[in-house]
Amino acid sequence: MVAIGIVSPGRFSADQVAIGCFEGEAPLSSRWPEKYRVAVAQLTDRPGWKGKSGQVAETQTSEGRPQAIGLWGLGARHRFTGPLLNAWLEQVTSRAKANGSPRLAVVLPDHPETTGSEAAERVLRNLLLSEYRFDRFRSASKGEKRQLAKIEVIPTRGQDKLYRGAQQRAKVVARAVTLSRDLANAPANEATPIWMVEQALEKLHPLGFESLVMDLEELRKRGMEGIASVGQGSINPPRLLRLEWGTEGPVIALVGKGVTFDSGGLSLKPAASMVDMKYDKCGACSMIAVGQAVAELELPVRLRIYLPLAENMPAASAYRPGDILRCYNGKTVEVLNTDAEGRLLLADAMAFAVEEKPSALLEYSTLTGGAVVALGFHGAALFCPDDDFAGELEEAALKSGDRIWRMPMWPEYLQEMKGNHSDLRNSATRWGSPGTAAGFLSEFVGDLKRWAHLDIAGTAHKRSEASEDGGATGFGVSLAVEWLRRQVE
Ligand code: BES
Ligand code: MN
Ligand code: ZN
Repeated sequence: MVAIGIVSPGRFSADQVAIGCFEGEAPLSSRWPEKYRVAVAQLTDRPGWKGKSGQVAETQTSEGRPQAIGLWGLGARHRFTGPLLNAWLEQVTSRAKANGSPRLAVVLPDHPETTGSEAAERVLRNLLLSEYRFDRFRSASKGEKRQLAKIEVIPTRGQDKLYRGAQQRAKVVARAVTLSRDLANAPANEATPIWMVEQALEKLHPLGFESLVMDLEELRKRGMEGIASVGQGSINPPRLLRLEWGTEGPVIALVGKGVTFDSGGLSLKPAASMVDMKYDKCGACSMIAVGQAVAELELPVRLRIYLPLAENMPAASAYRPGDILRCYNGKTVEVLNTDAEGRLLLADAMAFAVEEKPSALLEYSTLTGGAVVALGFHGAALFCPDDDFAGELEEAALKSGDRIWRMPMWPEYLQEMKGNHSDLRNSATRWGSPGTAAGFLSEFVGDLKRWAHLDIAGTAHKRSEASEDGGATGFGVSLAVEWLRRQVE
C-alpha cells in the first residue's frame, strides 16, 4: 500500500501536484505561498479554462519541486458527489503513474465530501487503494504501470487534524478491502471452498478468532441439505465455516455467500453469464475482511461470522431440478433451478446463525442478476424488514461510500416462493427476482427482526467485459465496519 502523508499548503515534496478546482472558483486560498498562487493564477488565466469537469491545465516549473502543477476541473460545486470525488482521485493517481512521477501531492477542494472525519477516512482509504493490483499471476515487468511511492494530501483549512486522526482507521479498512479483493480475485481453480477456509483461518486465527469447520459429512449429519446439495456436484467439497471473535458487546452475526464458482449446476448458465462467476464468493470474502478489520480496531462486539462455501457444478453427483431438500430449520425446498443456489446455502447458514440469538444479522450475497438489472453497478440492493436497522445501514452506507438502496419486502414476494410438494421452491419467475429471493431468505431467520440482506451482485466486482481492469471491489467492507463502529460508539 502506498505511503500517505498529511501536509499543509506549500509544504509538500512531491514531483507533481494535482489541484482540484470547481467551475468558476479560485483554486487556492490566500494561505498558500505566493509562488504557488502565481503559478496557479497563470493556469486559471489561460483562455478556455473554466474548471469544467474533466478539464486539466498543466504547467512545468523550472526549478525545485514540484516539477509539474496540474489544475483539475471538478465541474459545478453543487453537482459534486462522493463518487465524482473518487473518480477524480483515481484519475490523478493513474495520471501520476503514467507520467512516471512516484511522488504525488493532492490538493483537495473545499466541499462537504472532503470535510469531517468520515470524509477524511473515505478520501484516505481511496488513495490508499489506488495502488491496488491483483498481479499474483502476472509475469513480472510486462509493461507494468509505474507505481507511486508516496501521496501527500493537502486538506482544506482546519481539516489537517481530522485527516491525521482518520489515517489509522483508513489504513485498517483499506487493508481489509485489499484482503477481500485478493480473495475474491483468486480464480476458482485455486479458490476452492477448502482454500477459502485455509485463507480465512490464516488471516484470522492470529487475530484471536476461533473457528468451527463443517465438512460434507458433518453438514448432512446436522441437516444442512442446502449447503450439502449445492456442493455435492463438485470435486471440491463444500464447507460451512463459523468464526467467532470478541467477548464483550452485542452479538452480531455476519453471513456471506461463498460460491467459489457458479456454473449454474445442471441448470447450466450460458457461456457469457459464466465468465465472472468466480466472483460469486464476494460476500464471503468481504465478511472475512470485516472480521480482520473489527479485530484490528478492537471493536467491542461479539462477532460471529458464518460462511457457507460451495462450488456449484453439473455432474453425475449434482443435485437436480425437482429435488426436495430439507434445510437446517426443517423447512423443505423444491429445487426448480439449480442456478438459484445461493439462497439454499444462505438458508442453512442463516438458520444456524439465528440459533445463537444475535442482536442483528447482516448478510451479503451476489444473489440475483435482477439486482444488477435494477441498480446497475452503482449500488447494492438492501432488503431489511426493520426500519431502524435499515436506517442505520443507510447512514453507514453514506458515511462509508458503499452505496445501497432499500427495496420493498412485500409479502407477495414470499407468496411466489411457496412450494407445490414442499414448503418453498427455490425460484419463481424472473420478474422481481431480488425481491422473491429476499422473501425466500425471510423464512430462515426465525423471529429475528433485525436482519438485513444486501444483494451485491452489481457492485461486488467490475465486469471483465466492461472495463480493462475488471476485478473485485471489496464492496461492503467499509459499510459493515462503519455500521459496527456506530453500534458500539
Ligand atoms: N450468482 C448468481 C447471481 C448473479 C448473476 C451474480 C449475475 C452476479 C451477476 C445467482 O446464483 C444466480 O444464478 N441467480 C439466478 C437466480 C434465478 C435462477 C432464480 C439469477 O439471478 O438469474
Ligand atoms: Mn446461480
Ligand atoms: Zn450464484
